[in-house]
Amino acid sequence: MRDTVDPDGLSDQLLRWYDAHARVMPWRTLPQDRAAGVRPDPYRVWLSEVMLQQTTVAAVKDYFHRFTARWPDVAALAAARDADVMGEWAGLGYYARARNLLKCARAVVAEHGGRFPGTVAGLRTLPGIGPYTAAAIAAIAFDEAATVVDGNVERVMARLHLVQTPLPDAKAELTRLAAILTPALRPGDYAQAVMDLGATICTPRNPACGLCPWMQSCLARREGVQADLPRKRAKPEKPTRHGVLWLARRGDAWLLERRPDKGLLGGMLGFPGDAWDGAGGPAPAEAEWTEIGEVRHTFTHFHLILRLHIATLGREAVLRGTLVPKADFRPADLPTVMRKAFDLASSALALS
Ligand code: ADE
Repeated sequence: MRDTVDPDGLSDQLLRWYDAHARVMPWRTLPQDRAAGVRPDPYRVWLSEVMLQQTTVAAVKDYFHRFTARWPDVAALAAARDADVMGEWAGLGYYARARNLLKCARAVVAEHGGRFPGTVAGLRTLPGIGPYTAAAIAAIAFDEAATVVDGNVERVMARLHLVQTPLPDAKAELTRLAAILTPALRPGDYAQAVMDLGATICTPRNPACGLCPWMQSCLARREGVQADLPRKRAKPEKPTRHGVLWLARRGDAWLLERRPDKGLLGGMLGFPGDAWDGAGGPAPAEAEWTEIGEVRHTFTHFHLILRLHIATLGREAVLRGTLVPKADFRPADLPTVMRKAFDLASSALALS
């Protein structure tokens, strides 16, 4: 393993590669523009980084366009209605991110005069901004020489330096190695360059080593083990949880309820259900319920199988939830598992 201060000019080699191959992204200021003095908009950098936590670039692009068209700056987002932001976020998952996004926008406006703090330390004080996101925003938006370590960077460092320790145990070592290569000049371009290298060349499977600017220096390639790194500690199997959803319609209205702020899908609109613990629970209306099948969905930590019950309500008492006319909610604003349930219930009701 090598661990002196970038003796081989590795960061310069990567920056030259990035100058020629930077991916175009809606939130990105390309290296030529940065060199010409264009400053990235911290709002767009922040928004993209929060969206990209746990989500791919391809999935984020459309959401990013819709958010920035509707809320072009942090003041506009801070003034948005919570339900509108949660609705636009639907489908991106990890809904705590959307709630923190709003909290953060409001804190930037209320406590920082509408300007994002320009350092890792300042950014860390804001809701929803952890060490990774703070480093990414500080580097990309403000050119602070912060070390940005995501899954791509860990993979690239593990290969370049032949780190055989499995993740997550290797995290501290990979961060230390990444810090050594972070340059004082152009750290924002450098952070994005390592991400691009990891996403396009140093990919998890079948890395395109023949195209890599670090081909000559990569110790894993020299040993022929690049595709085996980084090693990972075996993960426990995801458990499967079972639950129930009740989908009821009265005329053109559907029975919906907003989920509690804390917990899974917190703050999102959905259909009434049980605790998803296999125990079942009371239905939300006294009606004649028909079981029509199940929907399956996988969350980070478990698989979920929900049995769907539907009913057409007449004058029966509604015990929980609110009947919302179809014109007043968009199925697309529901979280994915609820949208799957809505689609299945809609087709069952259309057939009945
Ligand atoms: N993943 C997370 N942040 C990114 C960025 N700024 N560019 C490319 N991929 C990313």
